[in-house]
Amino acid sequence: MNYAEEIRKLAAEKDALILVHNYEPAEIQDVADICGDSLELARKAKEASASTLVICGVYFMAETAKILSPEKTVLIPRPDAGCPLADQLTPEMVRAAKSAHPGAPFVVYVNSSAATKAECDITCTSANAADVVRSLESDTVLFGPDANLASWVREQVPEKTVITVPENGGCPIHHKVTVDEIERLRREFPNATVICHPECAPEVQKASDMIGSTGYMIRNCGEKQEWIIVTESGILHPLKKRYPETAFHGIEAVCDNMKLITLKDLYETLAEGKNEVVVEKETADRARKAIERMIEASA
Ligand code: 13P
Repeated sequence: MNYAEEIRKLAAEKDALILVHNYEPAEIQDVADICGDSLELARKAKEASASTLVICGVYFMAETAKILSPEKTVLIPRPDAGCPLADQLTPEMVRAAKSAHPGAPFVVYVNSSAATKAECDITCTSANAADVVRSLESDTVLFGPDANLASWVREQVPEKTVITVPENGGCPIHHKVTVDEIERLRREFPNATVICHPECAPEVQKASDMIGSTGYMIRNCGEKQEWIIVTESGILHPLKKRYPETAFHGIEAVCDNMKLITLKDLYETLAEGKNEVVVEKETADRARKAIERMIEASA
């Protein structure tokens, strides 16, 4: 069977929109209606008119889509696609931090569960974290679970005190990138510009020329002829597709969760309408406030 063709036929028949994250396998990105970073996918999920959304990404992305569009059917081809970063911040940890710092708002990275978001004041993504923190009145802000993203926010918003919860949370894939690796690549490709994701450690951020979300990379990598791309390897596909004349050098970084979905999984999910995402109403209502506040703050 030609899965790609059958998926597109089924999507039309079932009034389904396929939203795919930039780290997903190339063949999944190629059958998408929309590919994007976390913020772009959340925005599109909110605006979409289709009655079904199929989210090809990790579970928190599908939860976010369901929270923003509770009337729609939201499917995820692999519900077991988790995010080890999201698991590092529980609702109990948010409540404890808030009672230790009364009055300080909690900014939660979208890489978190719906239950954790429900305890927080506002969400952020790597595309808008500094804008979100700047938009808050309080001088002290609680931020989690990514301490590397928090460190980048501190650089851009030095007037605020940003307290990380937990103290050292991080994405295992981005956190293991080293300055040695960047320096080795710079020696190999001396004319390349280095761009890293803000989930990388602060010393890797400092060793890079530019920092940004996956969407930022896709928008800005037309500016130069040669790049060293410091994030999950899936991003190379949309970059090469958009800028065929440009040279891209990646690093060894693969998120296994982002590579779980196959064309067969996607086909079966659409055909059978299976793997529906459910978020309990009270949790969804509270989490929605935090996500919508972010969308307003980064408009
Ligand atoms: P982006 O929002 O930059 O796409 O990042 C998502 C993510 O999960 C990074 O690990």
